Amino acid sequence: MKILTTCLPFLLLFPSVIHAEMQPNMYSQTNYPNFCDNSCLDERMRTLVAPYLLPEEHPLKCVVDHLFSQSRVTENMDSLMGAGFQIIAAMQNSYIVVARHAAVPGYVFKIYLDAEKRSRDNKPNWEWLLKRCYSARIIRLKIAQKRIEHFVIPDKWIYLLPPLPTSNTSHPSPFIIMETDMDLEPVAISRKAWKTEVTRAQLRELYAILRHGYGTVNLGNIPRTQNGQFAFIDTEFSRRRHNLKHVKKYLSKDMARYWDHLIK
Ligand SMILES: Nc1ncnc2c1ncn2[C@@H]1O[C@H](COP(=O)(O)OP(=O)(O)O)[C@@H](O)[C@H]1O
Ligand SMILES: [Mg+2]
Repeated sequence: MKILTTCLPFLLLFPSVIHAEMQPNMYSQTNYPNFCDNSCLDERMRTLVAPYLLPEEHPLKCVVDHLFSQSRVTENMDSLMGAGFQIIAAMQNSYIVVARHAAVPGYVFKIYLDAEKRSRDNKPNWEWLLKRCYSARIIRLKIAQKRIEHFVIPDKWIYLLPPLPTSNTSHPSPFIIMETDMDLEPVAISRKAWKTEVTRAQLRELYAILRHGYGTVNLGNIPRTQNGQFAFIDTEFSRRRHNLKHVKKYLSKDMARYWDHLIK
């Protein structure tokens, strides 16, 4: 019964939840810093974010704590750049800012700035961040279950922003995502890889993930990494009914025919 009441908000937000998501660490975050006493989180949010909190023992956690406690880094674009972040992308559909910091090598941050007033589908921006973590975990499980070799997914952690220094905005972001930097190839190289280099074995693996409604049929969101794999970087949407035929527009004629054969 306790588990049911604890999970209920989680199930309401993510109806497609599967048992594998019910990780025991959901219920053991009482000592996590800035968690129970964080006034930006309510009980429902606490339940939802708990499984994805950046582990306290992560080797870069103290570096990140230091970075975000010097100033309200996430207030706006100026404060972000002023704190030494390098902007990789400021997205016009999701409104997230993707940035790196030299002190945190190997990771990127996905951020809703405090000053960001827009939100997609009237859902709070923190929910969209959470969905990215949730869907990434499901795809990671699929990759492991099916022993998939050619597709990878970044680790995605929630980093709770420190309460101080405070933001000057009325709705400061409660948290951001810290995720593995996937060392992506430039867009043109990824596009070319899908068009001219992808193999049948790779398409079979892609199908194994997409057929259950995970991932995306927009292969622009599955770019090539520098070590020749493909990375699911954009995991904002949970399980969906994909139009699998959409994949064909990224492929050569030959591979599009093979894709038709796979999905028929
Ligand atoms: N894990 C990552 N590693 C390296 N670059 C990334 C990563 N995630 C995102 N990016 C970069 O940021 C851009 C936007 O991220 P994405 O998650 O696709 O945003 P959106 O959901 O708005 O499309 C990507 O196209 C890519 O260039
Ligand atoms: Mg994208």
